[in-house]
Amino acid sequence: MSFEKTILCIGAGYVGGPTMAMIASQCPRCRVTVVDINPERIAAWNSDDLPIYEPGLDELVKAARGRNLFFSTDIERGIRENDIIFVSVNTPTKSFGLGAGMAADLQYWEKTARQILEFSESSKIVIEKSTLPVRTALAMERILNCRENGICFDILSNPEFLAEGTAVRDLEQPDRILIGSRETDCGLKARQTLVDIYANWVPKERILTSNIWSSELSKLVSNAFLAQRISSINAISALCEKAEADVAEVSRAVGMDSRIGPKFLNASIGFGGSCFKKDILNLVYLCRHYGLDEVADYWESVVTINTYQQERFIRNMLGAMFNTLAGKRICLWGFAFKANTGDTRESPAIFIARRLLEEQAEIVVSDPKALKNARTDLTGIAGRVHYVEDPSRAAEGCHAIALLTEWDLYRNLDFQKIFDGMAKPAFIFDGRNILDHRRCFDIGFNVYPVGKPPLTHF
Ligand code: NAD
Ligand code: UGA
Repeated sequence: MSFEKTILCIGAGYVGGPTMAMIASQCPRCRVTVVDINPERIAAWNSDDLPIYEPGLDELVKAARGRNLFFSTDIERGIRENDIIFVSVNTPTKSFGLGAGMAADLQYWEKTARQILEFSESSKIVIEKSTLPVRTALAMERILNCRENGICFDILSNPEFLAEGTAVRDLEQPDRILIGSRETDCGLKARQTLVDIYANWVPKERILTSNIWSSELSKLVSNAFLAQRISSINAISALCEKAEADVAEVSRAVGMDSRIGPKFLNASIGFGGSCFKKDILNLVYLCRHYGLDEVADYWESVVTINTYQQERFIRNMLGAMFNTLAGKRICLWGFAFKANTGDTRESPAIFIARRLLEEQAEIVVSDPKALKNARTDLTGIAGRVHYVEDPSRAAEGCHAIALLTEWDLYRNLDFQKIFDGMAKPAFIFDGRNILDHRRCFDIGFNVYPVGKPPLTHF
């Protein structure tokens, strides 16, 4: 079969895999190949056990794989044979040198650009899918167009807005697709090629085009705004606990203002995930680089409140449990950074587990999808850690349950049975406010939600 367009994606991670599976599924006349330097990841994408858990992804991949969706480690061939190249490699926070702990580490990104330059035998459209500092496209252009051999590269910015756990739905029905390009004849032509791909399933009015810098920056700003809402409500949750107000009632009242809206106003143990913190720190670094210290301070405070909220959770536990956790057995319900994913990157659970171990508590970690990652995250941290998948069994003999991920399965357990099996007095710290607190209290638990008055028997 001959294909209308041949597409390559470099980077088979949480973004590259699902995004390309969606394009392959919606554009049967495109051949889509996903490559990665990690052979185990590629082997997993080619197996029945995909490397990431995402509702609906198995079906999507299985339907297209081998038809017009391929996973391979042959990067060189991929670059040679495809005209449109998405780059979706990781862009973590730099851990060394200038900007360590703040700036984006662009080494994987630049390495990819150099590989594209080395192996290309024809002109190509190169698309930034990874989240990058504003003006990265300029560096890309300089690297890719440094040879005078008639091959030219058009760079587009097409940031990804999917959220984990809802990736398939987000890809199928995106709020918007953003495509930034240079506003030259070549740039606009390349932009139209990508618009045409998305137009196979995304309504035209949802496909936004912009200049390339606006597109790069909009991705960082979207994540910063989302995270800012969470830090705003979490900051207010601390005040609610002092004032005997209920943060859920406050967020409902505030969110009903149509100018504010109800989403992303759930108080919690803080946001996790691989991107919010890294992208805000990247934004902060850029602002400082341009001498905008006040702007940098403003956005940095979103991260400061997030750390404060996690530490506050531990302090509340300590305060409630008579100022000592040493030797106590604490069960963690959930380790993933949010429900419906096995991803634990930057999960608040890592911070909380580490702090509990520092307090010399013994912990029992429970999660339906993230135990494998949890084991890796906690390797090398001193202390007694057990892993039990079943939440009721995990709580047996514990002094407290700390609910850290909002998995639905925690809502309807047999709380009477769980209470009976625990050490007394038994505590529940609901870091996501998803349990029926009154019911748990009536059974005998001392219940500590976030941003609400505790229900205690003392
Ligand atoms: P990831 O770590 O899951 O995947 C990146 C992949 O790139 C890895 O498999 C790695 O082996 C591969 N890679 C690195 N260098 C390579 C090279 N030179 N050649 C081939 N493969 C290479 O990362 P991710 O979560 O998919 O994120 C990718 C980008 O997308 C990041 O910039 C991130 O900020 C952004 N993003 C992520 C999400 C998300 O939900 N995870 C959402 C939107 C945007
Ligand atoms: C987030 C954005 O929502 C995506 O649009 C973006 O593409 C992605 O980051 C990215 O760039 O990586 P994700 O991190 O997968 O997606 O998950 P979110 O649903 O945004 O949740 C992030 C964190 O905030 C989670 O720990 C979640 O539990 C927490 N959260 C979310 C709250 O504490 N309260 C809320 O009201 C909402």
